[in-house]
Amino acid sequence: QRAAFSSSGAARAVSGRIAVIGGGQMGSGIAQVAATHKHDVTLVDVSQEALERGRGYMAKSLKRVAKKQFPEDAQAQGRFVDEVLGRVSLSTSPAAAVGDAGLVIEAVVENIKVKQELFAGLAAAAPEGAILASNTSSLPIARIAEPLSAERKRRFLGLHFFNPVPQMKLVEVVRTDAADQQAVDDAVAFVKGIGKVPAVCKDTPGFIVNRLLLPYMMEAIRLLERDVASAQDIDTAMKLGAGYPMGPFQLCDYVGLDTIKFIVDGWHKEGQGLVGDKLFAPSAKLDELVAKGHLGVKTGKGFYEY
Ligand code: CAA
Ligand code: NAD
Repeated sequence: QRAAFSSSGAARAVSGRIAVIGGGQMGSGIAQVAATHKHDVTLVDVSQEALERGRGYMAKSLKRVAKKQFPEDAQAQGRFVDEVLGRVSLSTSPAAAVGDAGLVIEAVVENIKVKQELFAGLAAAAPEGAILASNTSSLPIARIAEPLSAERKRRFLGLHFFNPVPQMKLVEVVRTDAADQQAVDDAVAFVKGIGKVPAVCKDTPGFIVNRLLLPYMMEAIRLLERDVASAQDIDTAMKLGAGYPMGPFQLCDYVGLDTIKFIVDGWHKEGQGLVGDKLFAPSAKLDELVAKGHLGVKTGKGFYEY
């Protein structure tokens, strides 16, 4: 586990700063992990308040990491946290943040228009050879890149991290038909350099993990709707019977029920090749919880209460 957090000796895969756009759950984790591996990072969000929240997420997570790396040495723990946070600059200006970036990773709200508009601006401001990447869970990478030039599309990829970023070792490197092999190689080297394990895949709905995980989560919800078993018993069954660290309902609450609904509804209505697919048909139970604002851990209530 510890290797995931220690600095690696790998040669720098990208030169220049790493700009992370969106300082929420995922963006703050990505910024934290890159800074832990000695990259200079600029984290961008829409307001100072959002940036401070992002810094708070990083500080909390880094304290956990520091306690494990330097047990019983409070001073070393403090130095480690300060050193890593010291490598992360905060900014509300995407254009300024990407001016000297070798890699830009976008982790803003899951909305195609917002992402397309953002990347149009980023492409105008980022250095020519920079890799531009999206951390989208469910949107086609090629669609996000649609407004960009052919040259930019050659170095445009999906870099899909998993929640919680500091702990989850996988990053999917998603290649579109327009992407260069060199860009894929550079992204793979970057991922390895921050202590993660890359899995390269094509730009299809859900990539690898979510394409398998979402049907599993939806079928768990349908088991509950059919009254086959309680959420607790389904979770216990999958933890003890299949060795999963969390049961499907714990995981749904952890990811966020709004996010899950957004992903499955999107694929059901307009996903490439998935329109009308029964695996992603709406669930009355999920719709009801989301309509009530019970979105999981982040709102204090989902399938469980927190
Ligand atoms: N920052 C730093 N460290 C963290 C952390 C964080 N945010 N969260 C957990 N950890 C560390 C803990 O310090 C602990 O470390 P040690 O084992 O070295 O002591 C370790 O992770 C385990 O944590 P806990 O003991 O608190 O709890 P746990 O054993 O239940 O593990 C978990 C927590 C890692 C989240 C585990 O339950 C798990 O792997 N759950 C499944 C998560 C998962 O499937 N994520 C993918 C979601 S899908 C997605 O992200 C894609 C998408 O597009 C929606
Ligand atoms: P979040 O709501 O926690 O964070 C999003 C952040 O982006 C917020 O701080 C928001 O203020 C900021 N933002 C919105 N518009 C912006 C803009 N135009 N410029 C700069 N910042 C902006 O969301 P999240 O869970 O971190 O998800 C971010 C992305 O990562 C989404 O595309 C999501 O699908 C993807 N993702 C999420 C998970 C997950 O489990 N939550 C896992 C993998 C990937």
